Amino acid sequence: MTHYLGLVLAITLSSVHLSSTGYQHDLKRFVWSSGKDPDGIFNSDAKAASLANLEPPDFGNKAWTYEGKEKLLKSSKNTGFSVVESWPDASKKLGQLSAVSFDVDGNIVVFHRGDRIWDGNTFLTNNVYNQRILGPISQPTVVVFNGSSGLVVEEWGNNTFYLPHGLTVDMNNSVWVTDVALHQVLKFPQGGGTPLLTLGVAFVPGNDDDHFCKPTAVAVMSAGDFFVSDGYCNTRIIKFNRDGKFLMQWGRNSFQAYGVRMPPYEFSVPHALALAEDKEMLCVADRENGRIQCFNCHNGSFIVQLHSHEMGSRIFSVAYSPAQGGLLIVVNGPEFLGGGLVSGFVISLRSNQVMEAFSPNGQGFSNPHDVAVNKDGSQVYVVELDPYKVWKFVKAGVHQH
Ligand SMILES: *[C@@H]1O[C@H](CO)[C@@H](O)[C@H](O)[C@H]1NC(C)=O
Ligand SMILES: *[C@@H]1O[C@H](CO)[C@@H](O)[C@H](O)[C@H]1NC(C)=O
Ligand SMILES: *[C@@H]1O[C@H](CO)[C@@H](O)[C@H](O)[C@H]1NC(C)=O
Ligand SMILES: *[C@@H]1O[C@H](CO)[C@@H](O)[C@H](O)[C@H]1NC(C)=O
Repeated sequence: MTHYLGLVLAITLSSVHLSSTGYQHDLKRFVWSSGKDPDGIFNSDAKAASLANLEPPDFGNKAWTYEGKEKLLKSSKNTGFSVVESWPDASKKLGQLSAVSFDVDGNIVVFHRGDRIWDGNTFLTNNVYNQRILGPISQPTVVVFNGSSGLVVEEWGNNTFYLPHGLTVDMNNSVWVTDVALHQVLKFPQGGGTPLLTLGVAFVPGNDDDHFCKPTAVAVMSAGDFFVSDGYCNTRIIKFNRDGKFLMQWGRNSFQAYGVRMPPYEFSVPHALALAEDKEMLCVADRENGRIQCFNCHNGSFIVQLHSHEMGSRIFSVAYSPAQGGLLIVVNGPEFLGGGLVSGFVISLRSNQVMEAFSPNGQGFSNPHDVAVNKDGSQVYVVELDPYKVWKFVKAGVHQH
């Protein structure tokens, strides 16, 4: 009961704070000082305990309201991004959209769930998929749109997937997906076909080198090493080499009260990944902790966490553009008790500030699930679980190619 009251109090306090600060661009950035950098790859309970002891004063549930320790910046009225109406081709019917990515040619690749939705019956309590009897989704679940015309270029992924989640196209146009029902990560050649790589055991959840549990996303380095965020149950980030050999992992579970700031390396649903290779950084949307955590992509050391009042307590996805000194594009999600703006946000890594917010005509999104940005930061795509929408945004004043 005390726990419950504490939870409600935390929610109430942060909602009040949101509305009382109004629409302001604030962002807290916390850099782990080198003296406290927890060396070694985080992988054991012993390490977990020592990390908790290193918790700096900025953490703890006061972080949302710490006077004098936040940057509360003026709101920029012009968001810069405007939605492109009538994109994509409206005749293309899609289901719940879980992922979006650019391919190398500038096409937009989306992953959707066809006639399936994720609800209370989808999984058993032990995370085993409960609807195998339905068979795989018969519609093509991967749809490639021409970024300018919005017409379907190709589609595939029929009779293959059960519950699509993440999708990433790498620099060679290979397509990496995660399926939370299969508990697998798969790499396909452009256009689909036989997987080039399959990790995890179909329908068998687990937490070791060979099993995932509802893995959420993949990020691929240009040399071919890749990261998997795993996921809804395991709360770890795993790095593999290009052949799929396990290299290292980090992360520990922090399913705790809403609004409470967690120490680094803890996740409550690591939900999406963005690789900032020029900054040697892998950024993770730590969904239910409402923050972005960034790590050194070579050795997994924590670098920075990013969060803000206006982004709220649920961060669904993050994408990276090297433009303007580095931009993170973020989408948040609805607060459990309402309030807050469900929106896209642009964070400058140069100034460590939220620069802009964007949504369709400034009205907010409903349930955005993933975001993609092109290299020069001029085009952003957002997909929603519900309504079944893929939104295109372009930056005003930038010539579109
Ligand atoms: C990871 O690399 C960074 C940058 O070289 C370094 O500062 C940090 O100490 C390294 N961490 C580990 C665990 O080796
Ligand atoms: C997209 O369509 C336009 C014409 O509408 C065409 O010029 C362009 O080459 C297409 N892009 C790709 C990547 O095929
Ligand atoms: C997907 O649909 C295409 C076109 O109908 C068909 O040729 C192909 O065999 C289907 N793939 C699978 C895995 O069923
Ligand atoms: C892309 O292909 C090149 C050449 O084969 C290879 O060196 C590189 O590792 C590949 N990158 C990825 C991400 O697979």
